Formats: sequence, structure tokens, C-alpha cells
Amino acid sequence: MESAAAQGTRPKLGAELELKIDALAYGGAGVARTDGYVLFVQGAVPGDRVRARVTKRKRAYAEARVVELLDPSPDRIEPRAPHPGAPWQVLPYERQLQEKESQVREALSRIGRFEAPPVEPIVPAVEPWRYRNKLEYSFGEEEGELVLGFHRPGRWNEIDDVSEDVLASERVDEVREAVKAWCREEGLSAYDRGDGVGLLRNLVVREGRRSGQIQVRIVTSEGDFRALDLAESLQDVTGVLWTRSAGVAETTREGETDLLTGSAIIEEELECAGEKLRFRISPDAFFQTNTEMAERLYGAAVELAGLSGRERVFDLYSGIGTIALALAPAAGEVWGIEVVERAVADALENARLNGIDNARFYAGDVRTAMRPLVEEAGSPDVLVVDPPRAGLSQKVVRRILETEVPRIVYVSCNPTTLAPNARQMVDGGYRLERVLPVDMFPQTPHIECAALLVRS
Ligand SMILES: C[S@@+](CC[C@H](N)C(=O)[O-])C[C@H]1O[C@@H](n2cnc3c(N)ncnc32)[C@H](O)[C@@H]1O
Repeated sequence: MESAAAQGTRPKLGAELELKIDALAYGGAGVARTDGYVLFVQGAVPGDRVRARVTKRKRAYAEARVVELLDPSPDRIEPRAPHPGAPWQVLPYERQLQEKESQVREALSRIGRFEAPPVEPIVPAVEPWRYRNKLEYSFGEEEGELVLGFHRPGRWNEIDDVSEDVLASERVDEVREAVKAWCREEGLSAYDRGDGVGLLRNLVVREGRRSGQIQVRIVTSEGDFRALDLAESLQDVTGVLWTRSAGVAETTREGETDLLTGSAIIEEELECAGEKLRFRISPDAFFQTNTEMAERLYGAAVELAGLSGRERVFDLYSGIGTIALALAPAAGEVWGIEVVERAVADALENARLNGIDNARFYAGDVRTAMRPLVEEAGSPDVLVVDPPRAGLSQKVVRRILETEVPRIVYVSCNPTTLAPNARQMVDGGYRLERVLPVDMFPQTPHIECAALLVRS
């Protein structure tokens, strides 16, 4: 084993290095520095001394993965159960919160060039374990036996079986184990991502944490099996769906979906700013994966919107209408724009279900829908955006600035895209007034925030 310095400053691909980790990067990798060269090390935390293999090599930095923990950090705690989706469970929860709060501050100052970003204390999760309302598992085979669990980190074709998922409810654990046992009993094969042979690909379970409903979707290749018998064998589930997908890509979004038993729709309830709302969610629509913390996040959006009952509000990237419908009771009117047509249909139905008649939803791409929306509705008083991880394109920010809206509430799942967008808005005449991080994803490095920008 060599030190990075011994090889010159840029270690070779595949080289194994001994490294001391001194920080955590955005996204969760440990940071090590050798001769000014930075390595992002998956599976390491500050204070660890590790042996790591270089998996990617660039001019300015490299990526590596831990092969051996030589000297563990004094901050490390025992993980509850192996889980590639919960890499931060080796850190105490308080430490995770501190890290997330400081990463939001760091992104805003480094990328957004804000000298003293107005970041408030992070809102901790109500439940740091077993909080996810949507779980996706993959089928695989190990020594000839069918397994159902997670991809082994760094190995796209190897699946580790899971018998207890520390981020899922016990009910979801039971459903997954029942499906696995039934499929083993039937002697079904797992789809092999290498040669494209075999049947079972994924299991997706959605749970209405408040409604108590459970939806099961099994994803297979084009082959056949006694799907209806599997569906009927599952106890107390609201609906069972079967998606057949011929594609080679590892995605649960492609293919034809049939309803086997029950309903294709699952319902969930949220209480935001004193209002109880009920939502129906189509299988391919986005819904925040932590119900209890979605309430806190949307509550923060309502607070930041500062509504008096008369305002015209735009909700861009409105999904199934969650934020729009949380805002509607305190607004004059709300207009939502969302690109997925099924989600728009859900939003319209959700408005009706909750007796809300001042919210309208349109299917459209935010990039082109903004100007026609302003022509039809008039300029907004408050504008809410909740974009995907990539944030807003410069063009969308320009369209927003054109409206001269007095208040912007920016809900973000990625502080490294919030930061440049907020800078562009501030350069366009706004003040960044408040940034509120909310911990939606304990035991993981993911960070969510709600920010308020006010026109100066
Ligand atoms: C982070 S989700 C937010 C959804 C909703 N606000 C919520 O909290 O449930 C982002 C949403 O933006 C939608 N979306 C992505 N790109 C879009 C675009 N260019 N125009 C309109 N909607 C888009 C996605 O379908 C998704 O529903």
C-alpha cells in the first residue's frame, strides 16, 4: 500500500491508500487530503483512519471507497443493521443534525457567496428511524437462493438480502418478508441485470402512515407467474400492482402496470398549519417520503408565505398539490403547475376531496408555462417553487424575476442548487431573509430546506 504522496499527488485508479478523514462532504462522503489533493471517501466519517480503493480519478480530486477500517473515529456508534440507504447511522443523531445545518450554511456561503447566510437551527425529525413511507427493494440471488434487499454499495449486480429495514415500518418489513417467502416457495428466479435473464426485478411498497393503507407493486421482466395468487396471499393491503418492464435499466418507472387486487390509488393524510388534508397518490406521482416531516416542511412553507387571505399564489412544481392545498385556506387563490399529467389529475381530485375551491392546477413545463400563466392569472403576490434536485435553470429564474413577485418561498432538496439560484435572485433584486433546514431523511446525508426571498 502506498501513500498518495508516494505516487505523486494523483493516485492511480484502483490504488489502495491509507487515509485519515477530516471532514464530511456534501452528499455524505468523508474527505481526506494528501498533498493538497482531495479524496472523497465513501463509507468513512471524520476521525476514521481507513484503507480505501480509488474508484474515480479527476484532475482536482478522486473518489474512493473504504476497504478496511483501520482505526475507527471516536464519534462512530454501532449501526442498527446494515443498510446502504442509511450510511450516517454510524453517527449519533445530534451530530448528523449539526453536520446538515453546517452544510447548508457552507453551500450558501461557498457557492452562493452569501457572507452570513440567515440559516436557522435545523428542525429535527420526529422519528429518526422507520420513517419512510415508500421503499424500493431489488431481487437477486445469492448461492442459488432468492434474496430481496438492496444493491451492495458499488456493485450494480449484487443484492444483499434484508430481513429488517431500519427505515421502513414493521408492517412494511412484514409485507416484504411475505412476498419473498411466497416467491421462494414458487421457485421464481431473480432477473439478472448482467445477462437479462430471469423474472423478478423489484418490490415497491408505499404506506399511508396516517391512513394505514399499504400498496404493493411487484416489478418483473416480461415473463409470467401466478401474480394474482401472490396478490391474494397478501393480508391487509389496499392494492397490489404488477409492472412488466422489458428495459435493461434499473428503474421501477418503466413498463406496463396492471392492477391485480384492490385499488391503484393510495391515500395519505397531512396536517399542515392546523389544516387536516387528505391526498390520493397515483403510483408514479411524487410524494415526500417522510409523512411526519412533510407536515413540518409544508408548515414552514405556509409560515414563510406569510399569507393574509387575499394573495394570488403560484405553486411551481406542484406535484399532487400538497403545498398548494396547504396554502389555499390562507390565500385568495392558488395556481399550480406540474409536468406529470397523472399528478395534476390527483391535485384536482385532492382539491375536490378537501372541499378547496380556490386552487387550480395545470399540466405544463415550468420553463414554458410561466408567461402564459401570468397572462391568464395576473402577477402573483407569492410564488412557491419546489423543484427536483437540479434546482431551477437560469431561464426559469429569469421568468420568475420577470413577474416581480414580492415574495418567493423556495423549497429545496439540494442546498448546492438552492445556493446559486438564491444568488441569481438576490442579484435580481431580492433579499435572502430566512433559510430553514428540515431533517426529512435521518441516517442519510440528504438535506431539505425552505427559504424565503423578499423583493427589496
Ligand atoms: C420535489 S417534487 C415536488 C412536488 C410537490 N411540491 C410536493 O411537495 O409533493 C418536484 C415536482 O416537479 C415536477 N417537475 C419536474 N420537472 C418539471 C418541470 N420542468 N415543469 C413542471 N414540473 C416539473 C415533478 O414531476 C415533481 O412532481
